[in-house]
Amino acid sequence: MIPFIDLQAQRRRLGQPLEDAILKVVRSGAYIMGPEIAEFERQLAAFGQAPFALSCGSGTEALVLPLMAWGVGPGDAVFCPSFTFAATAEVMPLVGASPVFVDVLPDTYNLDPARLDAAITEVIALGELTPKAIIAVDLFGGPADYPAIARVCAKHGLKLIADSAQGFGCTLDGKHPIHWADVATTSFFPAKPLGCYGDGGAVLCKDERLHDLLVSLRVHGQAVKSDIEAKTFEHDPKYLNVRIGMNSRMDTLQAAVLIEKLKIFEDEIAARNRVADRYAAGLGDLVKVPTVLEGGVGVWAQYTIELPDLPGRGRDALAPQLREQGIPTAVYYPIPIHRQGVYSAYPIAPGGLPVTEAKAGQVISLPMHPYLSADDQDNIVTAIRAFVKRNN
Ligand SMILES: Cc1ncc(COP(=O)(O)O)c(C=O)c1O
Repeated sequence: MIPFIDLQAQRRRLGQPLEDAILKVVRSGAYIMGPEIAEFERQLAAFGQAPFALSCGSGTEALVLPLMAWGVGPGDAVFCPSFTFAATAEVMPLVGASPVFVDVLPDTYNLDPARLDAAITEVIALGELTPKAIIAVDLFGGPADYPAIARVCAKHGLKLIADSAQGFGCTLDGKHPIHWADVATTSFFPAKPLGCYGDGGAVLCKDERLHDLLVSLRVHGQAVKSDIEAKTFEHDPKYLNVRIGMNSRMDTLQAAVLIEKLKIFEDEIAARNRVADRYAAGLGDLVKVPTVLEGGVGVWAQYTIELPDLPGRGRDALAPQLREQGIPTAVYYPIPIHRQGVYSAYPIAPGGLPVTEAKAGQVISLPMHPYLSADDQDNIVTAIRAFVKRNN
């Protein structure tokens, strides 16, 4: 079987320095908030062109933390796509707020700015929920249309979160999503383009006061510098808890892994783009291949093609045939979030979600990682071409 994502090839490349970095933490005993955490946060901020970066427990918690910091809660609306991983929408109910689902653009699968504007306008007109924020997703690793989304945000005075769990490292005209967003978040789940060896996440932001708040919320609302300025507290301020927070610390071990992985990340992004280009050259004349916005560079968390949603000719017929030839595939995502029972009561944008509904029946993702060989890729391309030609 060709690996869908080959983490072992990457591990072999990283070699002894990676293992030494892990062993150093094991020997140091600084398992929680060891020095690697601050060092990684510094390097991550520099990579992501953000003044501040905060590591945390997961990509999900990276979305929860800014919502908590802004006091988003009951009665508030946060706009997001339905064509995404559940975590994007799950964090709204977690803080008591409501997601409002907005359709995506058919070529990039990312938020449609015009429909977003219409959705916000309708929520304001209905008057039941107060619009507070937008979560744009860099689905499959390609940047959302941030300039247009940021204009909608500014028009309505909302906060913008870039959920870059799949897209950390992607750029638009050389700029990372934080250029337009108040906050950019990511996940270090192992299969993500920048993944660790367990769970982890990060929040990048531009505002020092917000960063301070996030630092506090990450560790049980502990007092931070700005809370104790001009005050005296004779005990360790760690035990002065001034707001409701949580435990969302990332392990030192994961920071040590990520420091090593960050060294090769730029090079891996280039390799992912070469793999994507080869797929496009091999398949683009026969099936719909992914589009990245003009001026954008994707990180290709997934390489997702589309087949018509037709019995015997679509992706559900292709997947088992590829599997027989040792080629794994995956469907992200077969059921849009608004179609899942627990989310069915939340509002959807005017005009519904026709693009999301259609794509859910058409998309199929192919093996994608920086170490995919040209030979393996040729076999994948040949197998897909044969299937499409047989069925047309
Ligand atoms: C778009 C998106 N947002 C958020 C998350 C949540 O990240 P985590 O699994 O680290 O909590 C993921 C993870 O798969 C994701 O794909």
